[in-house]
Amino acid sequence: MKKIVLLGVISSLLFAASLRVSIKPVDNAIYEKECGSCHFAYPAGLLPSNAWNKMMLNLDDHFGDDATVDDDTFQILSSYLNLNSAEKSKQYKRSRKIVENLNRSIPNSISTMPYIKKKHEKIKEHLITQKEVRGLFNCTACHQNAKKGIFSDEDIDIPNYGKWEKK
Ligand code: HEC
Ligand code: HEC
Repeated sequence: MKKIVLLGVISSLLFAASLRVSIKPVDNAIYEKECGSCHFAYPAGLLPSNAWNKMMLNLDDHFGDDATVDDDTFQILSSYLNLNSAEKSKQYKRSRKIVENLNRSIPNSISTMPYIKKKHEKIKEHLITQKEVRGLFNCTACHQNAKKGIFSDEDIDIPNYGKWEKK
């Protein structure tokens, strides 16, 4: 009996460890509102500051959309992104890995970075392009707790496929 209890404790500890927060969750209400209206508000720790700055300077042609904001909001968003960008969040594992894998390039998006592409190379293409997902940019379609900064393999549920851990 004792052994069973102990095993239960150990396995739940292991599970909790694997679901660890690996990216700092968004903690700015203005960013959440302005940059989370068309898609999930991407955590700042997913890109280096030079990439955020490049994106912010082209908000009038943001992936084909106009995402411009007024000057005050622009300052708030830019400073939030710069203070929390990948190189400022290296205490979080994924931000650290993103920085290590940049090779001095300035990425145009998160989903096209070689590191992120590599992390997803085992997923069948049709599961990514299907209408319930549309593309790799749609992190929350598969990573249920992406908003909490959790991207663990154990916490992925792909539409029309199911839990990743099982396969
Ligand atoms: C008017 C809608 C709209 C707003 C507002 C908006 N975006 Fe986007 N964003 C898009 C579209 C469209 C894409 C392309 C992917 C998609 O279809 O969701 C995109 C893509 C992105 C990507 C790349 C995702 C990838 O593929 O890696 C990032 C990062 C991003 N947006 C950040 C921001 C930030 C930061 C803001 C706030 C300043 C913002 N977005 C506001 C429409 C918007
Ligand atoms: C189609 C579903 C899907 C989408 C969309 C998706 N992911 Fe993933 N992601 C996965 C799967 C499945 C894995 C695990 C792959 C493996 O184990 O080979 C994964 C792995 C990861 C990992 C590595 C986790 C680890 O513990 O090694 C990170 C980080 C990650 N994804 C981030 C993102 C981000 C950021 C986005 C959005 C820009 C995104 N993913 C979009 C399905 C998806």
